[in-house]
Amino acid sequence: MAYHLGPLTHKGGRMNCGYQPTNWGEWPKWNGDSEFRTPRFKFSCSTTDYSGKTNSDVVTLLKNRELLEIYRDLTIGDQMQLILELGFFQGGMPLFLADMIAPKNVLAIDGCQPSDHLKSLVERSHLSSIIELVGGVDQADTRKIRSIVDDRFGAEPLDMIIDDCSHWYPQTKACFEALFGYLRPGGKYIIEDWGWTHWPSAPWQTTAQSANRFTRNDEDCPRTENFVAKEAPHLAFCLRL
Ligand SMILES: C[S@@+](CC[C@H](N)C(=O)[O-])C[C@H]1O[C@@H](n2cnc3c(N)ncnc32)[C@H](O)[C@@H]1O
Repeated sequence: MAYHLGPLTHKGGRMNCGYQPTNWGEWPKWNGDSEFRTPRFKFSCSTTDYSGKTNSDVVTLLKNRELLEIYRDLTIGDQMQLILELGFFQGGMPLFLADMIAPKNVLAIDGCQPSDHLKSLVERSHLSSIIELVGGVDQADTRKIRSIVDDRFGAEPLDMIIDDCSHWYPQTKACFEALFGYLRPGGKYIIEDWGWTHWPSAPWQTTAQSANRFTRNDEDCPRTENFVAKEAPHLAFCLRL
């Protein structure tokens, strides 16, 4: 069953009046390679350790500094008010984005339910009207994902979609085809870990199913008009023209 953490209050205007974006020149403040702070949260981050759990003191995020700096470059100076993330894990990205770029809403979906610790952290941080975590949704169920997005955002276009979910090519492609049209012109569709079958020692290297085919001209590559695809280390993004 889907878990909804409070209704989003997105209607009426595109600005989030409650919070201001944080200055990327000052924040986040790093303490070594795997810990940093934003004004409201302390994060523990890694791209390899999936065992961390968000609790009342620390937010777990599956990113490293390099990836977060790519997000800084992708979002800085742009209007990022409505954001969809596929694969929220421990809620690190919705909390990071809420604190750094003050979006109006982050809607985040995952096959797993958000933990009680994560739910109470969102509530205690007064972010329930900004962050909505919807668990129990399979990435392959694009009809359901579209209906959730339609329900929350209506006709308002999205500014950014992040797919950090299954990383399997069929699901990645299906979501791209189902969701890319929700972006506004200039909106960004980000696919993380697109190249994982090429990483050294990756256990899945024998499969041809990864999202790394995404930005190539494979015959079954997504056919959507009006986008340019770019590849950065560890992620690919498509800009809606
Ligand atoms: C790499 S983690 C996401 C990390 C998170 N975005 C972050 O930056 O901390 C992948 C997430 O996708 C979810 N996931 C994997 N396959 C899925 C599927 N088919 N449908 C829905 N969620 C899925 C997992 O439950 C997991 O939480």
